[in-house]
Amino acid sequence: MSNELEGKVAFITGAARGQGRAHALKLAGMGADIVAVDVAGPIGDFIPYPAATPDDLAETVRLVEELDRRILAFEADVRDREALMAAADRAVTELGSLDIVVANAGICEPAKWQDITPESWQATIDINLTGVWNTITATAQHMIDAGRGGAIVITSSYAGKKVQPMMIHYTSSKHALVGLTRGFAIELGPHRIRVNSVHPGGVATPMGGGDMMNRIEASTRENPKVNQMGQAFMEPGWMEPEAIADAVAFLVSPAAANITSEHLSIDQGTQYF
Ligand SMILES: NC(=O)c1ccc[n+]([C@@H]2O[C@H](COP(=O)([O-])OP(=O)(O)OC[C@H]3O[C@@H](n4cnc5c(N)ncnc54)[C@H](O)[C@@H]3O)[C@@H](O)[C@H]2O)c1
Repeated sequence: MSNELEGKVAFITGAARGQGRAHALKLAGMGADIVAVDVAGPIGDFIPYPAATPDDLAETVRLVEELDRRILAFEADVRDREALMAAADRAVTELGSLDIVVANAGICEPAKWQDITPESWQATIDINLTGVWNTITATAQHMIDAGRGGAIVITSSYAGKKVQPMMIHYTSSKHALVGLTRGFAIELGPHRIRVNSVHPGGVATPMGGGDMMNRIEASTRENPKVNQMGQAFMEPGWMEPEAIADAVAFLVSPAAANITSEHLSIDQGTQYF
């Protein structure tokens, strides 16, 4: 796949660390220039794992530059559509085009339904769902205007195909991304812009750090049967972020030229258990 994306520009949200950084490095390794967007700061006290930092985003920049690719980094919140539009405009002016969008930024809070607050409900929907809408509406017109086609990949989750217990807000947002993927695939299809979603199972990223595992355990304590859900068929039952980046790389590559409105699971079977 090397250099298959030469001359293309990839706009990636949540690119400071975790899967977003892995996507940036994978696509840069295939020749793409990168636009890295990340809030690089805390979202709210309800999030049980540490926030990404400006240093994380700077490290993504350093690693992409090490691959001899150009990168523009923006500290921006995907809830801020104006900021995303400004980033997309600058990317086209400075890097020449926008060909690939990976709408990956997201947050996750394990909580029983009674413990989800209006604040955490709203933030989850605003970031995980509206943030993806903001990302696509800020970038798609540039792709249409250039007339070169394009590829959009939306990061949902196994929680976009089945319930992830004790995460009604997260599960709702990730299910909604399936409909969003289908809707955009239909309307952008005539412009040769393909839109697909990826549905990871457990991925070893900072999202699983801090107090995350304790909070998952605490949220299911009164209903331990649900712990049987979301198990992988394969060992070790979780993946490195590069596994998801490989799937994203496939979906944006010429090998996937006829794939759109697809919902690709990278989950070792988790969606079926
Ligand atoms: N880690 C998993 O097990 C797992 C499984 C399935 C799906 N996912 C999804 O994968 C995506 C990437 O998650 P990750 O595992 O890399 O987690 P992560 O927390 O390591 O990375 C997420 C990145 O998104 C950024 N971000 C969060 N809110 C933002 C906002 N409002 N604006 C801009 N950037 C924002 C964060 O700062 C962070 O850098 C998320 O959408 C997540 O829901 C994760």
